[in-house]
Amino acid sequence: MRAAEIRQKFLAFFESKGHQVVASDSLIPGNDPTIMFTVAGMVQFKDVFLGFDKRSYTRAATSQKCLRAGGKHNDLENVGYTARHHTFFEMLGNFSFGDYFKQDAIKYAWEFLTGEQWLALPKDKLLVTVYASDDEAYELWHREVGLPAERIIRIGDNKGAPYASDNFWTMGDTGPCGPCTEIFYDHGPDVAGGPPGSPDEDGDRFMEIWNNVFMQFNRDEAGVLHPLPKPSVDTGMGLERLSTVLQHVKSNYETDQLAALVRAAARETGVPYSQDVPSLKVIADHIRACSFLIADGVLPSNEGRGYVLRRIARRAVRHGYKLGQKQPFFHRIVADLVGEMGEAYPQLVEGQARITSALKLEEEQFGRTLETGMNLLEKALEGGKTVLDGKTAFLLHSTYGFPVDLTADVCRERGIEVDLAGYERELGEEQERGRAAGKFNAAAGVEYGGADTAFEGYAKTSVEARVLALYRGNEPVQALAAGDEGIVVLDATAFYAEGGGQVGDTGEIAAADGALFEVTDTQKVKAAVFGHQGRLRQGSLAVGQLVSARIDEGKRLATARNHSATHLLHAALRAVLGTHVSQKGSLVNAERTRFDFAHPQAVSAEEIARIEALVNREIAANHPVSAAIMKQDDALKAGAMALFGEKYGDEVRVLKMGEFSTELCGGTHVQRTGDIGFFKIVAEGGVAAGIRRVEAVTGEGALAWAQAAERELKAAGSLVQAQPGELVSKLERLQAEQKALEKELARLKGKLAASAGDSLADQAIDVSGVKVLAASVEGADNNALREMVDKLKDKLGRAAIVLASVADGKVALVAGVTADLTGSVKAGELVNSVAAKVGGKGGGRPDMAMAGGTSPAGLPDALAGVADWVKAKL
Ligand code: SER
Repeated sequence: MRAAEIRQKFLAFFESKGHQVVASDSLIPGNDPTIMFTVAGMVQFKDVFLGFDKRSYTRAATSQKCLRAGGKHNDLENVGYTARHHTFFEMLGNFSFGDYFKQDAIKYAWEFLTGEQWLALPKDKLLVTVYASDDEAYELWHREVGLPAERIIRIGDNKGAPYASDNFWTMGDTGPCGPCTEIFYDHGPDVAGGPPGSPDEDGDRFMEIWNNVFMQFNRDEAGVLHPLPKPSVDTGMGLERLSTVLQHVKSNYETDQLAALVRAAARETGVPYSQDVPSLKVIADHIRACSFLIADGVLPSNEGRGYVLRRIARRAVRHGYKLGQKQPFFHRIVADLVGEMGEAYPQLVEGQARITSALKLEEEQFGRTLETGMNLLEKALEGGKTVLDGKTAFLLHSTYGFPVDLTADVCRERGIEVDLAGYERELGEEQERGRAAGKFNAAAGVEYGGADTAFEGYAKTSVEARVLALYRGNEPVQALAAGDEGIVVLDATAFYAEGGGQVGDTGEIAAADGALFEVTDTQKVKAAVFGHQGRLRQGSLAVGQLVSARIDEGKRLATARNHSATHLLHAALRAVLGTHVSQKGSLVNAERTRFDFAHPQAVSAEEIARIEALVNREIAANHPVSAAIMKQDDALKAGAMALFGEKYGDEVRVLKMGEFSTELCGGTHVQRTGDIGFFKIVAEGGVAAGIRRVEAVTGEGALAWAQAAERELKAAGSLVQAQPGELVSKLERLQAEQKALEKELARLKGKLAASAGDSLADQAIDVSGVKVLAASVEGADNNALREMVDKLKDKLGRAAIVLASVADGKVALVAGVTADLTGSVKAGELVNSVAAKVGGKGGGRPDMAMAGGTSPAGLPDALAGVADWVKAKL
């Protein structure tokens, strides 16, 4: 039974039992910061189990794509080494939300597995486990289903803590959880491995195929279990494992879908197809994980989900390398995957080009350091080591792009361990250095233990405030004198401190007695303490003094325009390029906005035009820009865009522009989108693999940009004397004219050379019946020399000719020998006899050869010697 048929049968079975068939969710859980990936079918129903979300149905069935790599549920290390582990897999699941519970869950599972019209598995091949204290489940299996006691195994807390058990399932550190009963298939005694709970349970003989979880609790951060509103059911069955059973093979990698990918991996790495080569299985598994991740909007990067993707992709590439494939190959298997799974997952078909190019890019990038890194690793492992030191593992990571699990993977193949603690230490130190370097700014470098600054700059451009602290340089002082550079901390301010990509405000702090402090930048001293950096222009300023702090409004407004435009740009990029676009960095100042985002290829001119049109449309719609403070969870639920992995406080500021853009943002913005005026993208380029950068201008900046562009056009127009609107046709005409002129020039040069040839022929001298000509020709290039030599050969009959020309201190030489003479005089030797005297070397055919030289001074002598040289050969 093919995988597609099993999937369809499962859904049909549960539909017949009143279940709603629900589509697979994305691999990226929607707004759930507690897990990175969808690790099970239940993830999309988490809130339903918890009672936060209600659906129109109480029973559901899905075939859910899942990923278990990085995080609590992680099978990455096992892939390739067991018959049944994957990073990406499909989970068949049925769910009850406070509807049926243990009895029906067990009954349904048994009926589907063993029922004649369903899978009809032999009953004696199945055994189950139950949570040690779950007598109810035990009895249901024993009495209702009729399983003999020796095939029901109780498993307790076998993982070192209460509820830490193979038979107690938890989604993450927190969330819905409960005891479970697992169903195993026995592959028979010729496969190694023992039953669950036995010392060799990790072997492949007894394969878990189906887990039925009795969702009863919500686990909180302290590990305390709270009963769910209603006991529920969450089951999960690996489609790949079930295929193994139903296709009568011993390993998931031999089933229809995966075997095709193992075959493709063999083809692309140039090794024969085999199920005994772990690397081929690793590649087959990883192409699925990588492709589905990219299809769902993740791109390789150095953090969060992107880093998990990078680790998987690089691991696959390294396994290809191990098989001898040193060229990019991995991306070529995407096409095979699309062929296998595209029908069930149309997003693979839609994303094929994007997935392929993102993986190719990643392969090329890693390919540049892989070989050197591997050589380094090989060296480090020489001499029978049993542990690889942390320093080398870290160097491989930081300089050669080897994720540490990749290094560990190589080491594992040779029975060597990696000193992970040492690696972590090195990494920690590096991060510390990075933090120190990145955080360096005058304000962060000062010590401050006083009160916070109240930021009033969203509504005001000027506030009355009291000086809380002063620093000369970054030394705390009681007063500043005229000319001092330093930092002013106030109890309230209108100055925005640099953050969220927006630069700090500039302006003035003035006191009634004439003191005037010019603020050139504002940076946070710490979370809610603002440091105004600059110079005291006049007067003196003391701690405790009352001042009025006023920002440069023009600059602030220009910055606000660019910042608000950045939000519109972000939303427009997602609308035009796809929702995989996520912010990777931004810089907003009064002049422009610079926005970095994940996208695998250059944004085309046509896409840029559409993005510009969309942003300008939203500007023209003149939406009010509103900011609201709310709880983070509510904000995310309301669909606010937030950066994954970014820490936001409990309360967040949600910035909304009509329905078009909702983002978490602490920056200062315009009041209505119309204030932005006009938006224009002025640059697009790549900054790193998979990261693009767009720069744009707004308002006056956009006007200045348009004016500058127009000035340049006008200047170009007047240079070529084109009327407005005719510049391009005029340039095309000029180009065509230039081409014609070049052609004419070449023709005339040829003619000139021919006539020069005529007069050169007269200079030939007779040496024992051979015409010998050695001459220098002014202004002829190699081609012209060759042509002349050809013509002279025709003209002179039995002849040996050397022509030279000098340009820019370099000598060009061409020698020709007529065919009847090449037996004794070879053009190559002839040309070299001259070249040797002008510091050069050359070669060619016996009848025509060329050379160059760098000492023109020797040329007259060299040419003068030709006749004698030829004579000696005759
Ligand atoms: N959530 C359970 C598991 O992943 C059952 O689906 O095993």
